[in-house]
Amino acid sequence: MQNLVSMEKLSVEEIKHLIEKASNYKNNKEVPNLKGKYIANLFFENSTRTKCSFEMAQQRLDMKLIQFDTATSSVQKGESLYDTCRTLQSIGCDALVIRHSETNYYNQLLEMGIPIINAGDGSGQHPTQSLLDLMTIYEEFGYFEGLNIVICGDIKNSRVARSNYQSLTALGANVSFVAPEIWQDHTMNGSYEALDSVIDKVDIVMLLRVQHERHGLGEQSFERKEYHHKYGLTKERYNRLKDDAIIMHPAPVNRGVEIDDSLVEAPKSRIFKQMENGVYLRMAVLTETVLP
Ligand code: CP
Repeated sequence: MQNLVSMEKLSVEEIKHLIEKASNYKNNKEVPNLKGKYIANLFFENSTRTKCSFEMAQQRLDMKLIQFDTATSSVQKGESLYDTCRTLQSIGCDALVIRHSETNYYNQLLEMGIPIINAGDGSGQHPTQSLLDLMTIYEEFGYFEGLNIVICGDIKNSRVARSNYQSLTALGANVSFVAPEIWQDHTMNGSYEALDSVIDKVDIVMLLRVQHERHGLGEQSFERKEYHHKYGLTKERYNRLKDDAIIMHPAPVNRGVEIDDSLVEAPKSRIFKQMENGVYLRMAVLTETVLP
């Protein structure tokens, strides 16, 4: 795998291979050593989970991290993304992990000859989040085919929704959506439902953060309580879930908006399990892209 930029570019076999590899690392099996490999993490958008999880994965693989901070870099002097990446390649980096607000930013970098791992591009894709979600689902159910999954929230602005819709449908799961009309995205084929009409039928409720930073002027009016009542996971809805259903959320979580505060660590929640799995999954992605 030369780059990881979009779930669309991964075959079902490649997805399953990455999950298997990550599970092996989690079970302390066949953990490789990438000593002598240099990597830089370029985060042009804020992050806690993805950035720290990549750093943890890189440390566990014994890679050397080249520190890069947009605030103190020559990006502040107007240097372009292309020139920044070309510079890091020239000084000896073996791969780049990049998060950027521009959707498809990676297209200009793919011919450069250095592996690019997309850590999120605008409202486009978040492939490592999708893969860690798939790993968590596979750990729970052992299969994807026929699972009923509802993705709920700010679908239009969510790179997680887009990545997961593509990968889950490719793997044979049934994906539907719940969203206010203004945040619906009909470029994806899933049906839009009322949360109350599907909550007792689904295997997985995947909640999304409301992406305020990507909203235009017409989308600014937002009332937390009203949103929670119509589109959030309330205690009443939690109690209607099937016995073996699980809750997922890529986080950060707006407690009391997408999900009731008391449910974030409820027995059916896998939110922190997703974060734990993210380290192993990113180790697998780094190994596949950096090793020849
Ligand atoms: N899930 C996720 O991408 O979180 P961060 O924005 O904190 O990286």
